[in-house]
Amino acid sequence: MNDVVIAPSILAADCGRLNEEIAEVAKETSYLHIDVMDGHYVPNLTFGVPIVESIRKSTNMVFDVHLMVTNPLDFFKPFADAGADMLTFHVETVDDPDEAITAIRKLGKRAGISIHPDTPIEKVLPYVTKCDLVLVMSVRPGFGGQHFMEESLERIAAVRKVIDENNADTVISVDGGICIETAPRVVNAGASYLVAGSAVFSNNDHVKAIKELRSCVML
Ligand code: DX5
Ligand code: ZN
Repeated sequence: MNDVVIAPSILAADCGRLNEEIAEVAKETSYLHIDVMDGHYVPNLTFGVPIVESIRKSTNMVFDVHLMVTNPLDFFKPFADAGADMLTFHVETVDDPDEAITAIRKLGKRAGISIHPDTPIEKVLPYVTKCDLVLVMSVRPGFGGQHFMEESLERIAAVRKVIDENNADTVISVDGGICIETAPRVVNAGASYLVAGSAVFSNNDHVKAIKELRSCVML
């Protein structure tokens, strides 16, 4: 398994030095995870469109925008215009996930669907083969630095089963509590895209932290 992606989550970065933090992780990975929170879907506020627009000017990294907002459809175009490459919405926040996936694709962006740990995994399964990425949340969304929820492993496996049965190439992403102990387990369960906030940014040597995560999942 050499093709596991590590996507550092800037929620855990030193935002006063955001461009420097991004330049540092860019030495070791091409993907950057950006958490957008609205204070409604989750009890926290984070980055908006102007921040994405601004950091876009200084990096070519792939921007993976995770929308934790109650009205994601209103924000697909603004974030796409600001420089997002991948747009992920939560299945709980839309009436019609197919409509949301189509809207993202029309903007020429990769479409992701995410699911809250409290939502039955069955809710996302009909859409697994229709999108580019399924983001299985392994903590309750809203904050970094939480403990990985063990039950996520069987949820990842359930999504993996649908992908394999349909010969699809959808990527499974996992977000929350990823560290060198949990990373190999989520990869064994079927994930190949690991979002990591505190595991990368709380280590002063971000490059080394990414390398460690990558090497612990090389089977
Ligand atoms: C939580 C966010 C995560 C967060 C993960 O709602 O979606 O992306 O940054 O942080 P860690 O890796 O510290 O659990
Ligand atoms: Zn996230």
